[in-house]
Amino acid sequence: MADEPLVLGIETSCDETGVGIVRGHTLLADAVASSVDEHARYGGVVPEVASRAHLEAMVPTIERALKDAGVAASDLDGIAVTAGPGLAGALLVGVSAAKAYAYALGKPLYGVNHLASHICVDQLEHGALPEPTMALLVSGGHSSLLLSSDITSDVRPLGATIDDAAGEAFDKVARVLNLGFPGGPVIDRYAREGDPDAIAFPRGLTGPRDAPYDFSFSGLKTAVARWIEAKRNAGEEVPVADVAASFQEAVVDVLTRKAVRACRDEGVDHLMIGGGVAANSRLRAMAEARCEAAGITLRVPRPKLCTDNGAMVAALGAEMVSRDRAPSDWDLSADSSLPVTEPHVPGASHTHGHTHDHVHETSAGNLYS
Ligand code: KG4
Ligand code: ZN
Repeated sequence: MADEPLVLGIETSCDETGVGIVRGHTLLADAVASSVDEHARYGGVVPEVASRAHLEAMVPTIERALKDAGVAASDLDGIAVTAGPGLAGALLVGVSAAKAYAYALGKPLYGVNHLASHICVDQLEHGALPEPTMALLVSGGHSSLLLSSDITSDVRPLGATIDDAAGEAFDKVARVLNLGFPGGPVIDRYAREGDPDAIAFPRGLTGPRDAPYDFSFSGLKTAVARWIEAKRNAGEEVPVADVAASFQEAVVDVLTRKAVRACRDEGVDHLMIGGGVAANSRLRAMAEARCEAAGITLRVPRPKLCTDNGAMVAALGAEMVSRDRAPSDWDLSADSSLPVTEPHVPGASHTHGHTHDHVHETSAGNLYS
């Protein structure tokens, strides 16, 4: 439809500078510049390195996205940007760029939540989200089960990790195995050659008295590290593929079991899985099998839309425009700990439901001077 909103989305919460352009539920461009190689030698994302890389990549990536989409900036109906959660300095680069473009072009600005964007992106793949949507959100910083009746205004957490995020566990186990960073994709690859039943690693918080929708991966990570250490101390070779497969199986088993249970308990017949870990091939396969057995329709975007990207931000921005949500104020600030319950960020002058410190542009001078 020609009257569907044309929105550009900017994502800079971590190490990918993402710029996406969508028209309603249609993906037109998804340009990503990653600084991951610059962080690999440190074994994790270095915030200052990420901020500077965003600054350098921002304008070229926006220009590339506009060119890929074949649209002019003047045709846009709005500019959306990740306002949080994420790395404060990295978020600031995106928010400042979005404000500059929106102001210069005379377009409305939409500050949106990174986590809600990971869910909304599936509209580009499978059409309008069912309402309510049950979402399993699994990324480097978050692991949650969320129930949303409207992705622009109502996201309710049913449970979350009480320690490490799922992606964080992948990254830490990969480090112990000396497989580099980020760990998820490489463990996924090794696991294909390994036996998932080779080692019985613990499934956290799955006892009858445990919180049914909360997750814990810290004990698993420690169990894997201890197992590897014992092998090394005994002078034996570590069977990397079997460790990767058995560890991955433990994570994926718990994630899918709890997600299916949440759907059953809440009477929801769709499950959406989003976030970087949703790119995992074993998670996708096990979720498919368990959802099918339970009569649940599974929605998982293609892997490239699961990891951080600008299209997901544009998708949520387009939904904001479609639903007539008020644009953000020009005093919109980045909020590194924006709660998942706030999909839309109206601006600092509005009263927020939480009391985290907001990062204002005044601090950007210190970061980049
Ligand atoms: O959503 P995302 O790109 O960034 C955050 O918002 O955190 O997620 C990044 C996380 C990393 O921990 C990475 O190791 C993990 O997603 N990841 C994977 C796979 N691809 C990325 N984990 C398991 N299997 C994968 N194939
Ligand atoms: Zn993410």
